[in-house]
Amino acid sequence: MNTPRILLIVGGGIAAYKSIELVRLLRKSGMIVRCVITRAGEQFVTPLTLAALSENKVYTNLFDLKDEVEMGHIQLSREADLVVVAPATADLLAKMAAGIADDLATTLLLATDKPVLAAPAMNVRMWLHPATQRNVATLRGDGVTVLDPDEGEMACGEFGPGRLPEPAAIFAVIEAALSSPLPLAGGVGGGPVSFSRSSADMPSPSPSRGREGDLVGQPDFAPANHRPLHGRRILITAGPTHEPIDPVRYIANRSSGKQGFAIAAAAAEAGAEVLLIAGPVPLPTPPGVIRVDVETAVEMAEEVRQGLPVDAAIMVAAVADWRAADTSAQKIKKDGSGAVPPLALAENPDILAGIAKSADRPPLLIGFAAETNDVIAHAEAKLAKKGCDWIVANDVAADPMGGESNRVHIVSKNGIDSWDRLPKAAVARKLMEKIADELDARSPRQPD
Ligand code: C5P
Repeated sequence: MNTPRILLIVGGGIAAYKSIELVRLLRKSGMIVRCVITRAGEQFVTPLTLAALSENKVYTNLFDLKDEVEMGHIQLSREADLVVVAPATADLLAKMAAGIADDLATTLLLATDKPVLAAPAMNVRMWLHPATQRNVATLRGDGVTVLDPDEGEMACGEFGPGRLPEPAAIFAVIEAALSSPLPLAGGVGGGPVSFSRSSADMPSPSPSRGREGDLVGQPDFAPANHRPLHGRRILITAGPTHEPIDPVRYIANRSSGKQGFAIAAAAAEAGAEVLLIAGPVPLPTPPGVIRVDVETAVEMAEEVRQGLPVDAAIMVAAVADWRAADTSAQKIKKDGSGAVPPLALAENPDILAGIAKSADRPPLLIGFAAETNDVIAHAEAKLAKKGCDWIVANDVAADPMGGESNRVHIVSKNGIDSWDRLPKAAVARKLMEKIADELDARSPRQPD
């Protein structure tokens, strides 16, 4: 591969100082970096610093490009392999979502034909504001990869999501995107949208999804039939299940669904037909993915059964182990006596173990295991107990469910493959590479 080229757009905000470290990491790894800094960004880092570190001219406004013979804005926006916006402020995200091009940075973002990765940073209330969330959803629907910000104490003294992800984490996403043949989310065509099932109530794909050949979102690194999972069918379960006690109460767990959704996104990007069976989570459907929403473990088990056969199934859902043995049709009321109503539980079906024994067992069956201690030993035991091929053991001691990164060990009968802590999107992409290799080794794909 040629030396990767990154166009880094530095927005305004206190987190802009972290872009300096990002440039250093990118240069250290040998990538070519060109920086564009917004007027607000210049209040926090100087073009001179970025120029020194990137060893390239830094562009600050459209007039820098008045010599269109040297480098026009169209050329600047397209010579890169990847456009990275870090920090992406609320204002920049809003302009990107609206297609506003009123300065050099936004003009480049509108003119580019390359994948775009945005790393947001802003005050927690600005991030949580419905307007920003709407803009992020629009951008993701358009195929822009918008990272979730980190959570923690902010420069303004508030606490919550809004911090720029650490430069090393942004670098890992960039590296994973460039080093794999996989495109970033929302490449042209995403993944195929048809997933033939016998069930007549298959939900129709959302309008933002791409059909092969449609120009949706950003372009790909590889044409569809060159993608590593082209022609493969993959089923993924994700999120928690909710087990009703009465019409207003349920048993659940803390699963956010983020890792499962990232895996579904990466599978579609890799060209697979993806069926995502999701418990109740407020996450957008990744481009190119067919999603079936369920509430309970029993519903999830039935949808999985209907979704088979597939080439690989990845069971990421944190299925509730038990459900209420009897569900009350009316809200259970306190009777004033202080007596606690009995809650009898029934065991839920083990979906993974069930399909491992079924006639439709996928050739590659993968389970997840969230562990806080003796991670490998528990995963090895689970591998045997569930009858699957791999267990992705998920070390949740340092970072409980709902975080943005994961440290995983892939445990199989062939040994243990331990990965560094990575953003969930990067874990998903690496997993897709491993799955593609495994499926190719078992049954090479026929050329089109
Ligand atoms: O909850 P447990 O640690 O047993 O989950 C391990 C794996 O089994 C996960 O992949 C999970 O999705 C799957 N599982 C399942 N059905 C259950 C419980 C777990 O498919 N009822």
